[in-house]
Amino acid sequence: MAQTRYPKTPREEQPEASPAERIDGAGTKARGSFSRRQFLRGSAAAGAASAGLLSGILDDAEAQGEPGVAGPGAVDMAFKINGKAYVATLEPRVTLLDALRNHLDLTGAKKVCDRGTCGACTVLLNGDPVYACSVLAIEAQGADITTVEGIGSPANMHPIQQAFVDNDAQQCGFCTPGFVVASAALLNRHPNPDQDTVHRELGGNLCRCGTYAGVRAAVAQAAGGGTTNG
Ligand code: FES
Ligand code: FES
Repeated sequence: MAQTRYPKTPREEQPEASPAERIDGAGTKARGSFSRRQFLRGSAAAGAASAGLLSGILDDAEAQGEPGVAGPGAVDMAFKINGKAYVATLEPRVTLLDALRNHLDLTGAKKVCDRGTCGACTVLLNGDPVYACSVLAIEAQGADITTVEGIGSPANMHPIQQAFVDNDAQQCGFCTPGFVVASAALLNRHPNPDQDTVHRELGGNLCRCGTYAGVRAAVAQAAGGGTTNG
């Protein structure tokens, strides 16, 4: 999945200063420019067991170019969500899910585990389903973001949304937006999926109420009967 990251600065144009140099510099900018990479390098030096692994990871990252440092204060960001332009001023640590829910008034994606295990926060980035709780908002800039609000509306439902209604594919409904988005992505990629494909493509979404049979029936209906309930 292609994601636009914040601008990278070639190392030769902006040589990395030592932490001491940065702290001795002027004001908050110097303190804020202490990077996670430097922290990890310090951690690797302090822990012999992890030093080799971290060193390898960092060497790989450095081979691809040093990312620019943003924050820790809020920075201006721009997003394209459901075909509309949005702007927000957010700290770089803010996840896409929190940006959507807390700053952009798009609350369809739900916050349940907040650690990339349940799928309640599923949105599309350039057509691919992702856990919005596991993507930084700053990294989602430049991507076409689709939330459940962009899949359809009560007055103009997407066939998969109508199928969820018709097949009672929800109980408490908390997982439903994520399932709807993941199912829409599934049908975009596999218009007539077999059961194995449905199990695989929706395997990242959990329903604590156990509505899996209803979800599979909904996908079957939206696919035109290309799969069966069970
Ligand atoms: S809230 Fe994102 S995966 Fe659970
Ligand atoms: S309907 Fe309740 S968690 Fe899925």
